[in-house]
Amino acid sequence: MSLARRIVVVSKKPQIHAIAQELAHEVFAADNLSEAGEIIAAVSPSLVMFEGAFPPVHLQTCLARASQDTQLSLAAVVISAGNSPFGDTEYKQMGIHVCPAGEEDYARLRDVAAAVLEAAQHQATAEPEETTFFHDETAATVKMAGHSPAIAETLRMIKLVAASRCNPILIVGDTGTGKEVAAQAIHVLRHPSDPFVAVNCAALTASLLESELFGHVKGSFTSADRDKIGLLEIAGTGTIFLDEISEMPLELQAKLLRVLQERAFRKVGGVKDIECKATIIASSNRDLKKEVREKRFRQDLYYRLNICPITMTPLRSPERRQDIQLLAQYFLKTSSICAHRPTPVTSITRLALEALSRHDWPGNVRELRNVVERAMLFETTDKIGLSSIIIDPIDCEETPRRGHDGRVRDFSLEKAERELIARALHETGWQKTQAAALLGITRATLYAKVKQYNLRKDNAAANELQVAASDASEALPVAAG
Ligand SMILES: Nc1ncnc2c1ncn2[C@@H]1O[C@H](COP(=O)(O)OP(=O)(O)OP(=O)(O)O)[C@@H](O)[C@H]1O
Ligand SMILES: [Mg+2]
Repeated sequence: MSLARRIVVVSKKPQIHAIAQELAHEVFAADNLSEAGEIIAAVSPSLVMFEGAFPPVHLQTCLARASQDTQLSLAAVVISAGNSPFGDTEYKQMGIHVCPAGEEDYARLRDVAAAVLEAAQHQATAEPEETTFFHDETAATVKMAGHSPAIAETLRMIKLVAASRCNPILIVGDTGTGKEVAAQAIHVLRHPSDPFVAVNCAALTASLLESELFGHVKGSFTSADRDKIGLLEIAGTGTIFLDEISEMPLELQAKLLRVLQERAFRKVGGVKDIECKATIIASSNRDLKKEVREKRFRQDLYYRLNICPITMTPLRSPERRQDIQLLAQYFLKTSSICAHRPTPVTSITRLALEALSRHDWPGNVRELRNVVERAMLFETTDKIGLSSIIIDPIDCEETPRRGHDGRVRDFSLEKAERELIARALHETGWQKTQAAALLGITRATLYAKVKQYNLRKDNAAANELQVAASDASEALPVAAG
């Protein structure tokens, strides 16, 4: 049996807590149903254990409200004494498992809870949800996940362009926004059974890139000891994808313009024209207009490419932001980074998803994918929690405060604790039950710490300023020289 990430226990019995501890990494205690509801919403547990004669309908309301927030269906066990006025079937009809209470029944409770967890885990892994990541019927061939207005518009353009005879096609957008994914989408919609050949124009020198694209004839330069077929020819009636077109050397830009105008090219050192039948897709993450103004990109080539450009929207833009959580779930479902692990990571907690939503993603979808895969690697349970979300590992390594000599000089546990508590309160909008759950401490402890550190909601900005100010005075640059 693999460990669950979190179990919420609504009981004061130490034996029940001990069983929960045995089955989960983290156990959260709630005194009553309303507190349980708040904790469930905050920590997205895998299982909730209720002990007592709770009316079935109250349990159902509590679970339904929490699952609405977490968008998860929750597994629940009720431990009821023989004198409970409610029958087992009433609970069972609501999908809640029932276990008798009593010393001699604890071994059985453990088995039931373990079986319920196992079944819930299995269900989470078996759900064939992949199609819900895609906007419409294009999902079958186009692996561009997203439901945002920006992706809907991009897909509309992709379909329009793919169905036309538009050639060449230009795709522009910031790094990591999915330009290559868009190029592949056009390719599979236009000619799925032909080759897709990609070439990165920034990766090769002018002469290498030329012979790579057009091929060369034997003896055309010193090391040309045999004929070489170029990528344009290999693409045939398929697609040639010219990635980072802005980096193509100017003299080669002139040769590419000729290909676009004449639909023919010559091998390096060759005299024969070869017909170019491929769809030419170029992409750039630079502002090509600016490149033209600064004379690094040919104006005539720019106009030739810019017939019906497809623009990829940055992830932080309001038109695409809603896809952050969906893309995170998509990468979680499709990544094979942890394929070797016996316990698959099957979900992400609500707090972790919210943390992802708050980030601005300068590296766009690629950065998001990296963060999710990193979290999958770090996570030891089946559910990615906030602590496994490390947006920038390099920044994190800088966290210890260093002096001029480069030595770590601030090991203040108190300061770290104060910061962590302030952050948890900030993240949960000062919901103390949720913040306590997040920190893994009781509400009483949280109240005591809030008092001890003089943290106040109305001076939250001041708390942050205070932390920032002390950061500024202490986070001196790592010794230069
Ligand atoms: N809509 C999407 N759905 C699923 N995966 C995506 C999506 N957009 C991008 N990705 C993934 O994000 C990563 C980056 O995408 P891609 O290589 O297409 O970006 P790019 O715009 O070409 O980046 P660069 O400018 O750095 O070359 C890839 O792993 C890709 O599979
Ligand atoms: Mg790319």
